[in-house]
Amino acid sequence: MFKMPLKSAVNISHLVVSGVVKEGDTVIDATCGRGHDTLFLARLVGEKGKVLAFDIQEEAIESTYALLKSHQMEKRVILIKEDHARMKDHVQEEVKACMFNLGYLPGGDHAVKTEGEKSLRAVKAALDLLSPGGVITVVGYPGHEGGEEEVFLIRDYLISLPQQRFEVWETRFINQVNKPPCIMVIQKL
Ligand SMILES: C[S@@+](CC[C@H](N)C(=O)[O-])C[C@H]1O[C@@H](n2cnc3c(N)ncnc32)[C@H](O)[C@@H]1O
Repeated sequence: MFKMPLKSAVNISHLVVSGVVKEGDTVIDATCGRGHDTLFLARLVGEKGKVLAFDIQEEAIESTYALLKSHQMEKRVILIKEDHARMKDHVQEEVKACMFNLGYLPGGDHAVKTEGEKSLRAVKAALDLLSPGGVITVVGYPGHEGGEEEVFLIRDYLISLPQQRFEVWETRFINQVNKPPCIMVIQKL
């Protein structure tokens, strides 16, 4: 499911999620973008599982649908054009994973991007929806304009989570130049 060498922050998030999600699970992609993470999740959950994939942009929803359809995976995914901060309006069941890949749509309008306050509200909503053993991954981009503030806002909140209920860790490529992406992972105990 993931490639070695790890190379990218996204690959590390895939490595973490693939260790937890099983066939038949329900999971969330909070920022579906071009659909690569959604496709990865759709493969993991299999025919009996379900992926709920959010994005605020029609272009992202259409791209993701096209990618899924080209792999015959569209039936196991529900695409939702909505702010991820409102995910609880659409998801009533427990989920095994929720993936956030923050920032803007690659090849799209760079002015439309995730925003710290909304991302934080979405992470909090995902924490409520997570089943025991489930994970949230957040890939953030401190090198992007506003990205560092967004990462720190989320990080400051995650630091406050009680260790009896959640395990929280972060990782990054420390030998990369120009503020490399960071990966934050939360597991509900
Ligand atoms: C870096 S891209 C995601 C990449 C994607 N996971 C993939 O595999 O191609 C970030 C996406 O977040 C979306 N986004 C920005 N703000 C959002 C919000 N409040 N709720 C949901 N999606 C949002 C953007 O439209 C963009 O498509």
